[in-house]
Amino acid sequence: MQNQEVYDELVGKFEKMYGAKPQIVAYAPGRIEVLGNHTDYNEGYVFSAAIDKGTFFAVSPSDDENCELTAADLMETAKFTLSTVAPAKEMTWQNYVTGTFNWLFDGEPAKAGKGWKGMFLGNIPLGAGLSSSAALEMCTVLALSKLYGVEKDKTTMAKIGQKAEHTFAGCPCGLLDQASSMYGKAGSLVKSDFRYNTFETVEMGPKVAFMMVKSNAKHALVDGAYASRRKACEDAAKYFSGVLRKKVAHLRDVTMAEWVLYHGGLDDTTARRAVHPIGEDERVLQGAALLEKGELEAFGALMYDSHESSRNWFENSCEELDTIVDTAKAIPEVYGARLSGGGFGGSCCLLVNPEAADKISTIITKEYKAKYGDEPTCSLIKPSEGAHII
Ligand code: GLA
Repeated sequence: MQNQEVYDELVGKFEKMYGAKPQIVAYAPGRIEVLGNHTDYNEGYVFSAAIDKGTFFAVSPSDDENCELTAADLMETAKFTLSTVAPAKEMTWQNYVTGTFNWLFDGEPAKAGKGWKGMFLGNIPLGAGLSSSAALEMCTVLALSKLYGVEKDKTTMAKIGQKAEHTFAGCPCGLLDQASSMYGKAGSLVKSDFRYNTFETVEMGPKVAFMMVKSNAKHALVDGAYASRRKACEDAAKYFSGVLRKKVAHLRDVTMAEWVLYHGGLDDTTARRAVHPIGEDERVLQGAALLEKGELEAFGALMYDSHESSRNWFENSCEELDTIVDTAKAIPEVYGARLSGGGFGGSCCLLVNPEAADKISTIITKEYKAKYGDEPTCSLIKPSEGAHII
């Protein structure tokens, strides 16, 4: 479904349920992660982009304390009041919205005074690693802050969504997904620095495009693998802060040269985990210099390096993603390919010559199908505008 169709369906369903059009509708896109994997919570750097698919949130005020939230694809409705906002164990999709509402009011949603009736619908494939959950949080925070007349800047809104993930959805994510959805710009990459939370946009030009290849390998970040990687990075940072004669708060502060010299004091697994975000930070900085000079193929080569680092050191890839990257590498019109997002399944992000898109998806689909029996989904992605009120 195209965005306009999603919007029309949502508004139609809302009107049918409540007898009037929603007072406010907000939209927030998903994201692709282009370079810089698991660097955000290490206070490092990332290149990402908002995509041309997203989620719409429609809302009107209610007259009392009651709130209602409907997932328009399932037509399931969760009901709660301002004083019963809490993480849910059933219909867990509501946690992204209720968590966001909760933190928009600093954990005291009763301060909102009156409740609301909301409904959401999106077209981001679920479990693909395209951050459908962050998109839902960002359209929620935009719509509800408008409804209540609460002014928040984009970074604060992104942090509200992140807090909902941590406390209501149970995923200790960084700020990448929410920030990319907020700061996306058409035709551009977002370059983020998660130490200072600064977000610049860099134009990509028409010579290259991104292709997302969604494997059918399960991708779930709440099952502990993501959290264990994050913990290993934090343990490593503590170790380096003890052995390096400088301030180390996060792995952002450790260089590759320092890792080479000092990693022997870490256990093997922690050392392997640590080298990934350290290398990724360096690759993002190199990538920025290459983009400035228009050296897109060299930028793509860094994406291949990034995937090798995931595969061999961070071990957040899987056989299906490796197959996609290995197949892509043999196609001259693919300049770079890597897993995108948390990993452990989900999608790969390819930097491609858009004129060869059909050829590329045919070859990758054929190889993948021969190995796994089912087909991956290949789609060209247009870097797009970030979250906004409609
Ligand atoms: C997931 C998380 C992000 C980030 C990426 C990996 O998408 O939600 O915060 O850590 O994984 O770079």
